[in-house]
Amino acid sequence: MTAKKNQIIQDQKAFFNANALLEKAKKDSPLFEAYVNKEQARGFSWLSSCQYILDYGCGTGTSIDFFYKTNPGSAARFIGVDIADNAIKKIAEIYPQHEFHLIENNQLPSMQEKQVDGAYLLHVLHHSHEHQQIFSAIYTALLPGGKFFLSDLSSGNPFINGARSIFTLLPYSVKNKFSDDLVVDGSIPEKYPVDISETLNQLRAVGFKIEKVGYGHLYCFLFDWIERFMPLSRIGPIHWCYRKLMHFEQYLLTKSFFQKRAEVFYILCSK
Ligand SMILES: C[S@@+](CC[C@H](N)C(=O)[O-])C[C@H]1O[C@@H](n2cnc3c(N)ncnc32)[C@H](O)[C@@H]1O
Repeated sequence: MTAKKNQIIQDQKAFFNANALLEKAKKDSPLFEAYVNKEQARGFSWLSSCQYILDYGCGTGTSIDFFYKTNPGSAARFIGVDIADNAIKKIAEIYPQHEFHLIENNQLPSMQEKQVDGAYLLHVLHHSHEHQQIFSAIYTALLPGGKFFLSDLSSGNPFINGARSIFTLLPYSVKNKFSDDLVVDGSIPEKYPVDISETLNQLRAVGFKIEKVGYGHLYCFLFDWIERFMPLSRIGPIHWCYRKLMHFEQYLLTKSFFQKRAEVFYILCSK
């Protein structure tokens, strides 16, 4: 793909093939790294007892990296699937001890005797259609009692929606500070809105039992964005203020008004 600069790319497979060839993004400051990933850490702790885990939409392995960070020394085996061949090639080089497959049309490779006892699907729904088909494939791959952790963007956060609407107009010097938000040559992928109630209905329809629904991120990511230009969290009083604002954000996210405006949601469910 030759991505034109300042564009929103519709072809998800082409976008993720190009994205897989880029270097992995640099890390956030320690304060924000822990905070922005806490929903994922919660899901991965929940999956910590699983022996064989399906990573649906595995990309180049960022999630497996983070799984090991959350569960150091885990002996879990992974089977990862993705639609982007470059991502599958790269992740197979990084993790030769695990198994990876290129898939199309949400058809998993034959699992036969090798059903998994855990699965996760992270940030795939807003890049894909046919969600119920994906849930059904995951349900079939899971052993009875198997655990499934899903997390995605909830499309309701006004700051993110505003930032996204002006993103393509920004200079590359600003955009390249957001490479973890998937920028390829100045272009970003189309993101489809995800409806949480509809997602829950689809999960129940294929047979999943919902264990927990959680929400994250209202405004604290704005400080993380500032941090990419000026590392203010290194200044003691500002660090203290950020921590207070993070606690307040957690409080607000217990209220349904703010849950509807959260940037991410996660669902823990079982077969
Ligand atoms: C935003 S990335 C997330 C990668 C990884 N899950 C993570 O959290 O780091 C989305 C990934 O989903 C993959 N993807 C999109 N639609 C898919 C589908 N229908 N089946 C499998 N993978 C898909 C893309 O190729 C890409 O690697």
